[in-house]
Amino acid sequence: MEALYKLLSDAQASLFVLFHKTWAYHWNVVGSDFYQIHKLFGDQYTSMFEEIDRISEHMRYLNAKPLSSMKRVLEVSKINEGSSSLNSQGMIQDLLKSNQDLCDFMVGISEEAEKQKSYATANLVQDLMEAHGKNVWMLRVMLESSENKVSEEVQEEKNIEIEEEIIEEIDEQVEE
Ligand SMILES: [Fe+2]
Repeated sequence: MEALYKLLSDAQASLFVLFHKTWAYHWNVVGSDFYQIHKLFGDQYTSMFEEIDRISEHMRYLNAKPLSSMKRVLEVSKINEGSSSLNSQGMIQDLLKSNQDLCDFMVGISEEAEKQKSYATANLVQDLMEAHGKNVWMLRVMLESSENKVSEEVQEEKNIEIEEEIIEEIDEQVEE
């Protein structure tokens, strides 16, 4: 069981760091899509708060101790802390990668739990995989729509330039 406890402890720490990162991005995001992104990050950190409680209490049920030291949490987390220099696109990209990394890490825990016939643990981490898989989906869609918006804005600028060129040409012809 020791190997499984260690994996759960690392998952708890990783969730803690991702929760904190998502929460901080929720406060600090700026831009034209502010409200949508702020709301999405808000929904995600709120769910993660419950997930941390669930995994920690599950560890107590297994007679293992969840981490309570923030220093230790940062030492073992598989997820890196957030960066304060990212714009909204960078924040979404960072959270997308972290949620995907967490899902990948959970696969190994699920396999170890089933090997040890700890089916309640496998069930718990599979629920987390589904939740974070959904986060990946929503962040990906958000990223794609903001990328489309940027390319629409670029296209709009090009259209204005073309229109101005045509007007100039017409003016020149009129002058001749
Ligand atoms: Fe909030």
